[in-house]
Amino acid sequence: RIAYVNGQYVPHQHACVHIEDRGYQFADGVYEVVPIVGGKLIDEKGHLDRLWRSMNELKMDAPMKRRPMQLVMAEVIRRNGIENGLIYMQVTRGVAPRDHPFPKNAQPALVMTAKRLSMEKAAQKAEKGVTVITVPDIRWQRCDIKSVSLLPNILAKQEAVEKGAYEAFQFDGEGNITEGSSTNAWIIDQDGTLITRPTSNSILAGITRAALIELLKEKGIKLELRSFTVDELRNAREVFLTSSSSYVQPVVQVDDKVIGNGKPGSVSLELRTIFKDYMD
Ligand code: PDD
Repeated sequence: RIAYVNGQYVPHQHACVHIEDRGYQFADGVYEVVPIVGGKLIDEKGHLDRLWRSMNELKMDAPMKRRPMQLVMAEVIRRNGIENGLIYMQVTRGVAPRDHPFPKNAQPALVMTAKRLSMEKAAQKAEKGVTVITVPDIRWQRCDIKSVSLLPNILAKQEAVEKGAYEAFQFDGEGNITEGSSTNAWIIDQDGTLITRPTSNSILAGITRAALIELLKEKGIKLELRSFTVDELRNAREVFLTSSSSYVQPVVQVDDKVIGNGKPGSVSLELRTIFKDYMD
């Protein structure tokens, strides 16, 4: 495997950054995960737009312009020979003596890795469905920024794993679901209405979520953009989640509550197919 680190392509096991990189010391960085399907990046523009937005919101300089970054992305995929998988890219504010204020002369650092994913395994997981737990959302008030500061997210995910679940859906102070630890949350209520939370500072504006919303519009499938409660989630007809690594993934259990008959819902599976067709 080959990684890209600040201008160089290096063997993955030897790829490293300096101990005073601000990403390491302060989690002062942002990232993107972009799916690769059939050797091609999915929604490359959306992911780059969001990366630039994250950098802007944190007043971070870009390590390079968009066009050269796209060339690096293509080269990382080529050198790793990835057909299906994902690319991980991370920008930090760079290396500087540890001090909280922004450094004056640091060069923003760019790192990229790519990994293979099995489409067969993903399909099997979708056919079976996954379980989720619900946990309080203890994150900060800028969850719209795709920052590498992910401690609350990993604590939530770890709790899910320890309980044998795939994902943790987080709920805010009002008892409304915000999103998963690394996914967006969707429900279909007992009337068949599709519901997902509107974007705000409380959630990450998922690229998969946005692409699916566009596909729903094209197909004339009605969607309500509103918050929903933990109770609505538990009593939903169908539940699913979206992300760049899971695509559209049906959920068949929330905490101890089985959703529907415990099998992926028909609409969730149809939406997965629609999204797969869009990626192919
Ligand atoms: N996670 N919400 C959060 C908190 C996320 O971290 C992610 C993505 C999403 C879904 O966004 P998208 O559809 O653009 O992938 C929602 C990535 C995959 C990760 O952290 O690995």
